[in-house]
Amino acid sequence: MLAMKAWYTGLGIAALAAATPSSMVDAAPAWSVPDIASLPDDDWGRTVRKGQDLVLKTAALIGPGASDPARRYAGNGLDCQSCHIDGGTKKFGLPLVGAFAVYPGYRPRSGKVGTIEDRVNGCMTRSLNGKPLPEHSADMTAIVAYLKFLSTGRPVGAMTEGHGPGHMPELARAADPVHGQQVFAGQCAACHGAQGTGQGTGAGEPGYVVPPLWGADSFNEGAGMARLINAANFIHNNMPNGTTWADPALSVTDAWDVAAYIEAQPRPHKADLERDFPNRREKPVDAAYGPYADGFPASQHKFGPYAPIRAAIDALVARH
Ligand code: HEC
Ligand code: HEC
Repeated sequence: MLAMKAWYTGLGIAALAAATPSSMVDAAPAWSVPDIASLPDDDWGRTVRKGQDLVLKTAALIGPGASDPARRYAGNGLDCQSCHIDGGTKKFGLPLVGAFAVYPGYRPRSGKVGTIEDRVNGCMTRSLNGKPLPEHSADMTAIVAYLKFLSTGRPVGAMTEGHGPGHMPELARAADPVHGQQVFAGQCAACHGAQGTGQGTGAGEPGYVVPPLWGADSFNEGAGMARLINAANFIHNNMPNGTTWADPALSVTDAWDVAAYIEAQPRPHKADLERDFPNRREKPVDAAYGPYADGFPASQHKFGPYAPIRAAIDALVARH
């Protein structure tokens, strides 16, 4: 970490072509969120509302707070909406709007085509550090019904404008956890706690008003949020909570560095991560665990800079 400090030059932002091709974004149907209040109180409407409930109150309903121990699938105190802000209805807040329209689809992480249920269980076993929900359970059906509802009117296969955490310019240097710690103390600790452990819902109750960012009750090493590019963009467009992509509170540099500080902290281990991304050339440059197709060390995958890694991968692909 100290060696990294020497690379920190204060600025050094490289202009970057966003990872999503602009042609795809241009072709995407405009952002819109269907109104759940317009659904009737029939079987379909109740199932969609139950799915929304599971996304908003995951820890209480299918996590450590579930009254039936057999229904405790989520392993930590997070809710889906700890990351999929506003129940997955916020632009660049990792929205769930439009997700249903792009599954089944090829998933580089497994190296094969996966269903929407597989994708939900990816978050169950990584972001929520738990067990997969049975594919045909009433809970999974309700979550998928909610996801289908959120894709109302979207053409099958269409990418949705505003999906993911957004794309800000990258740094030409490694992100700096030492500087990030200062940003954390000034901008984040008031809500997430000086130790990153969040704020619980109340004495003896599992779940959080403000979720933890690291430690035993956080997302595990295999989660999407454990990758720097996801976390930095998510933070830039959504944190401090209430911030939007249209008016970010943190500078680009501060967002990269505070994300690096969070990624440098301990979190639950996930076994068998070396089996992820069986085609190594499809492995995201910011996956913090090997093996890799390129010769760069794990530390550069974890903290950047990423342009040299991308160039090496492009050269490998071009050669074959
Ligand atoms: C710790 C943060 C976090 C939590 C909690 C979380 N997710 Fe995710 N989720 C992500 C990230 C990050 C991505 C996208 C990045 C990636 O694919 O690696 C994602 C992607 C998804 C996608 C795919 C979206 C798309 O457009 O392809 C679905 C569906 C999804 N999550 C559902 C859920 C559900 C349902 C829950 C609760 C059971 C949940 N997630 C909990 C972080 C989280
Ligand atoms: C005003 C309180 C507040 C502040 C300040 C704040 N957050 Fe958050 N943060 C939240 C809440 C609340 C959520 C969960 C979203 C929800 O439930 O609506 C969250 C979610 C997150 C998540 C995803 C969930 C998880 O547990 O990993 C990350 C990452 C995060 N915040 C990072 C930060 C960083 C970094 C900062 C400082 C730049 C910050 N937050 C500042 C309240 C805050």
